[in-house]
Amino acid sequence: MKFGHFDDSAREYVITQPDTPLPWINYLGSEAYFGLISNTAGGYSFYKDARLRRLTRYRYNNSPLDMGGRYLYLRDNGTGKYWSPSWMPTRTKLDAYECRHGQGYTVITSKFNGIKSSTRYFVPLGESLEIWQTTLTNESASSVDLSLFSAIEFCLWDANDDATNFQRNYSIGQMEIVDEVIYHKTEYRERRDHFAYFACSEKLTGYDTVREDFLGKYRSWNEPEVVESGTSVNTEAHGWQPIGSHHVKIQLKAGESKQVIFVLGYQENPKDDKFDPPGSQIINKKRAKAALEKYLKQENADKAFNDLRDHWTMLLGKLQVTTPDEHTNRMVNIWNAYQCMVTFNMSRSASYFESGIGRGMGFRDSNQDLLGFVHMIPERARERILDLSATQLKNGGAFHQYQPLTKRGNNDVGSGFNDDPLWLVLGVSAYIKESGDWSILDELVQYENETGSESPLYEHLQRSVQYTLDRLGPNKLPLIGRADWNDCLNLNCFSDTPGQSFQTTTNKDGTVAESVFIAGLFVLACKEMMGLFEGYKLKIQGSTNFNLQPSTFYSEAATEMEKTVWAAGWDGDWFRRAYDDFGHALGSKENSEGKIFIEPQGICIMAGLGVDSGNAVKALDAVAEHLATPHGIVLQQPAFSEYYLHLGEISSYPPGYKENAGIFCHTNPWIMIAEAIVGRGDNAFDYYKRINPSAREEISELHKCEPYVYAQMIAGKDAATHGEAKNSWLTGTAAWNYAAITQSILGIRPTLDGLEISPVIPASWDGFSAIRKYRGVTYNITVENPMHVCKGVATVTANGRQVSGSVIRTQDGEKEVNVKVVMG
Ligand code: BGC
Ligand code: NOJ
Repeated sequence: MKFGHFDDSAREYVITQPDTPLPWINYLGSEAYFGLISNTAGGYSFYKDARLRRLTRYRYNNSPLDMGGRYLYLRDNGTGKYWSPSWMPTRTKLDAYECRHGQGYTVITSKFNGIKSSTRYFVPLGESLEIWQTTLTNESASSVDLSLFSAIEFCLWDANDDATNFQRNYSIGQMEIVDEVIYHKTEYRERRDHFAYFACSEKLTGYDTVREDFLGKYRSWNEPEVVESGTSVNTEAHGWQPIGSHHVKIQLKAGESKQVIFVLGYQENPKDDKFDPPGSQIINKKRAKAALEKYLKQENADKAFNDLRDHWTMLLGKLQVTTPDEHTNRMVNIWNAYQCMVTFNMSRSASYFESGIGRGMGFRDSNQDLLGFVHMIPERARERILDLSATQLKNGGAFHQYQPLTKRGNNDVGSGFNDDPLWLVLGVSAYIKESGDWSILDELVQYENETGSESPLYEHLQRSVQYTLDRLGPNKLPLIGRADWNDCLNLNCFSDTPGQSFQTTTNKDGTVAESVFIAGLFVLACKEMMGLFEGYKLKIQGSTNFNLQPSTFYSEAATEMEKTVWAAGWDGDWFRRAYDDFGHALGSKENSEGKIFIEPQGICIMAGLGVDSGNAVKALDAVAEHLATPHGIVLQQPAFSEYYLHLGEISSYPPGYKENAGIFCHTNPWIMIAEAIVGRGDNAFDYYKRINPSAREEISELHKCEPYVYAQMIAGKDAATHGEAKNSWLTGTAAWNYAAITQSILGIRPTLDGLEISPVIPASWDGFSAIRKYRGVTYNITVENPMHVCKGVATVTANGRQVSGSVIRTQDGEKEVNVKVVMG
């Protein structure tokens, strides 16, 4: 069953039924000011950091689902009947309803009793504010006298404190209502230099900022007393729960339309210019007023919206493909690319499954997210790499996450995830492959954000690799530390205390448990370093101010590690997963549960292990036999049926969920890539289709999450709800699927030397075409597959020239290259 449909030409998903299985959300904002918005206008807004600068409140885990957001109420003053044009919160049965989610905007349109209402929500580029543009049309035969009310609930900035520290917070709320603009200024009188404002383009009939006066005692958002009575109380909040509500009266003749604009914004003032007049306690509003002056005008709001659309046309235009599969086309051309941008902006901080207060920007996560968005905005990828590497520890290790507002690493979820630093190598390499900007390796970057600790980024990468070599275990495999990519494989934790964090508890010395996954990742990172070394060496042509490892270092280290993997990490038919604190293998036939894991099969083959010997094919056949399901590939089998003290969080999950044998979607593309590496395009694409959200749209009632973005997890075959997705939006699944389909299957791959085209596609395809903008050149690519092979290129021409090999080299000054690839 579907709850809407894709409108590919508008690049929108159109939800046509408000009671979707879960709130189906979207994101507003792309730089500093962000919002989450659901299909019924639920959600919240924040500036840069969902924990430390929360503008509006949202109650997770609420009942009814998704209560609280950017609400409007309409009231027919003739009859007294009121309703929510976004369906929630009044849940009045609407005569028509449609929610269109696009890139950075959402439009909710509905009709009730002849009144059509359409509200477009978005954040203009470069601004710290959101616009709600509401157009009301009287489609009935007679005039109508309407009241329009807005309603938001302010958050007292620190979302964690706001949700817990009531003894203080009920006393600190402060407002100013001046010139019909509602200003929220809690804590502005003391150390904060920022405030929020909420304004309306129309003359107000009234306003409210005291929640209980607006709602009425013991009432909820679905039946506010003010809306019911049609009369605002004009209240000013002192403490308790400050809200913002405007009341506008609108008369519409039959057929008449009117637009009303609301602006919710965030403003910072210089510390010495906070008050006006100076010395008073009154907010200096001049900056906010300038923004309002501009955006409460329809033509300026329209222009800002058009600019946003153009911006996305430009970003998505970096790669557009036309394949025989519509799900591939719309995911690559629109939604997967868009999700990659959102994961880049949010990391794992704020979604409907991430509360915005739990996690900051992940070190590992951000490096992987880069793979998906680097072609759209290389300059922001550069900035992100430098921010991340400045938090790197001197020993080469990493804080697991950093706070976006401060850009400082924090220990809230510990450090010592021993895979973390290696992802930096992959991230930097992906950046240079895309941009050709080798200068990033010379950037002087601090360690642990300490002044005086600066060294070239290249040296950071050396230390990342050295970090693994300094931590080898009894089998010479890398020690796992707190965990590797699988945060829940906590082999040094041994926790038997309820509620204790698996992520931060360590009670073993960490000298025994090893990871085959990190070994594979290490080989991959060494291979990337070999390429980076060559380029770096050519560039510096002389000595460095640090000890540059010799050219053979990475090839020897990789070879040595590969030997170790074959000696201790190969189980006969697949790669093992790890060794536990007792020195026992995991992910081996020796185990009764957790015999085979997906991660090492993916990463080791991606690093090239077993590709020549045939062991890679063996491992992939084992994946197909033991792990593949129609809904995707599960993380491991057999699922852990009980809690194992020595394994940690992984066995804390009921079988079939999350890391305990769920379909952890992030890992599926590794298998797609591995299948492509061994040339099995049919298998690669088959796995791609199984978890492609658009291809799963028809089973939305089972899948439950949005059909336009990937979810982190789909319940595995051991689960009661096999096929049900959770944790949509913020997941490495976005970037890795994007990489798998575009770089490995379609084979359009940036390399250090230029753009390579080397497809591994389903044999049934006649071919495909693509437009790729790369390093300032537009490549118009046509791939033909007359022999119906999965892999293999017979001829390649670029602007008519025969190309040897698969990397396309441009001639000087060429801005457009027509590439024709004939497979066979
Ligand atoms: C989840 C992991 C996640 C970790 C982050 C665990 O509970 O299962 O997927 O990475 O928390 O802290
Ligand atoms: C989600 C985390 O964000 C990611 O870093 C991790 O690799 C996976 N969970 C697997 O545990």
